[in-house]
Amino acid sequence: MRKVTVQLHRDFAIGETDRRLFGAFVEHLGRCVYGGIFEPGHPQADARGFRRDVLALVRELGPTIMRYPGGNFVSGYNWEDGVGPVAERPRRLDLAWMSTETNQFGTNEFIDWCRAADTEPMLAVNLGTRGGDAARNMVEYCNHPSGTTLSDLRRQHGWEQPHGVKFWCLGNEMDGHWQMEAKTAEEYGRIACETAKMMKWIDRSLELAACGSSGRRMSTFGQWEDTVLEHTFDHVEYISLHTYLNNYDADTPAFLASCDLMDNFIEEVVAIADAVAARRRSAKRIMLSFDEWNVWYRTRRNRAARVLPGWPVAPSILEEFYNVEDALAFGGCCISLLNHADRVTAACLAQLVNVIAPIMTETGGPAWRQTIFHPFAHFSRMGRGRVLRAQIDSPSYAARYNDPNGPIDEFFAMPAVPYLKLAAVHDDKSGALTLFALNRSLTEELPLRLQAAGFSKLAPKQALQLCDPDLKAVNSKQNPDRVTPRPLASVRTDGERLEAVLAPASWNIIQLAVSD
Ligand code: AHR
Repeated sequence: MRKVTVQLHRDFAIGETDRRLFGAFVEHLGRCVYGGIFEPGHPQADARGFRRDVLALVRELGPTIMRYPGGNFVSGYNWEDGVGPVAERPRRLDLAWMSTETNQFGTNEFIDWCRAADTEPMLAVNLGTRGGDAARNMVEYCNHPSGTTLSDLRRQHGWEQPHGVKFWCLGNEMDGHWQMEAKTAEEYGRIACETAKMMKWIDRSLELAACGSSGRRMSTFGQWEDTVLEHTFDHVEYISLHTYLNNYDADTPAFLASCDLMDNFIEEVVAIADAVAARRRSAKRIMLSFDEWNVWYRTRRNRAARVLPGWPVAPSILEEFYNVEDALAFGGCCISLLNHADRVTAACLAQLVNVIAPIMTETGGPAWRQTIFHPFAHFSRMGRGRVLRAQIDSPSYAARYNDPNGPIDEFFAMPAVPYLKLAAVHDDKSGALTLFALNRSLTEELPLRLQAAGFSKLAPKQALQLCDPDLKAVNSKQNPDRVTPRPLASVRTDGERLEAVLAPASWNIIQLAVSD
């Protein structure tokens, strides 16, 4: 393939990555909580039932914020069921995932788990079957220091200090017919506005995210964001986005191209949010919370197909085994998020353990890293800093991507997908410039030539690649490191120039020590 050139300049930046860009998600869904992060009686469990082996992998993965408790689950959740003496907590039917929720794990346990995992909690309130009253009570229970019935109830339950949770989601995917008590944009906008007001009257320091569309394919996309923000603009800081990539058509080039649709989605939501601001002559900028993103298709089912006999507790559902090509598409999503660091200031990989997750466990057995674990750990650990504008000249290919997860069932025509997808992050503190690079050609090496103006001397610090001749290879309990990053040997530097050869179908991390 002809050479691919990339031009950067030290002073031309998109923005600084927000710490919350590197989040993940724990939902009461399948074995994410029970048998995932929490498994009393497991040989690795601590006194609270938290699996230490999972905690160690979570710390290695490095998520900075954790969304909880849903997802679809939250639209039927009574937060009160999950606090107080464990033996007295009710068992409930969960209509989101057609299972039984035992409530052995709830908000307080989640906060403790976040502290143990060194991650910030992000809580969602139920704006499906419940509303503003339950939400304000939950904020009072969690964040008010003491002296009221609800705050003293928390203290009586054993949590003397307020949890101080800052980031809250106003419901989940309220535009989706699959949601308990789904709403029109008008209905949701009104409730979200009134709920947000009350929540902030209790705690002025809260940051709130209104629900955007549950996907770009929703027929109401665009109109939904516009209406919801018309109602909530003065009361929220964020609007949410959700995306799951698929390879239903077994068309890997199209699958690897599909992460570029995240770029379109982000830019469209920014345009709508800014249009709402413009109508008000407001300088306020609503930020984007991409609080669900991942690859998910093999275990995706409609509600009818989800019904399992006997309303099981923590069934093994949505357990997607990720392969090499999934990790590549996933890496492309990381690059899309980095390249919109100016407006996407929170994001959550959905989800964390077992359920469409980077970490898998066996109940009673071991835990291991899935293929997608690796690009996320690179993204989280090396993506902190100023994202530089990259001028890329790459050969491209045409793709047709099918996303049947929505009412609009059409292919996306993608006439010119560059083989190279890249983000560059300069961390002033560590003095490192990190390149995140995806070669989407399945057959050809990509000779990369990069010039980083303003950096007088680049020196290779670390270079890794994730690739495998078998794009379907997975990690498993028997072979947990079958797919793992290996050194990338081809990096050469000379002053402000770099050359490297990226293997076909590869995810690459090139970290450089820089001097200005
Ligand atoms: O992450 C799985 C599900 O996907 C979430 O519960 C829901 O919000 C989305 O539809």
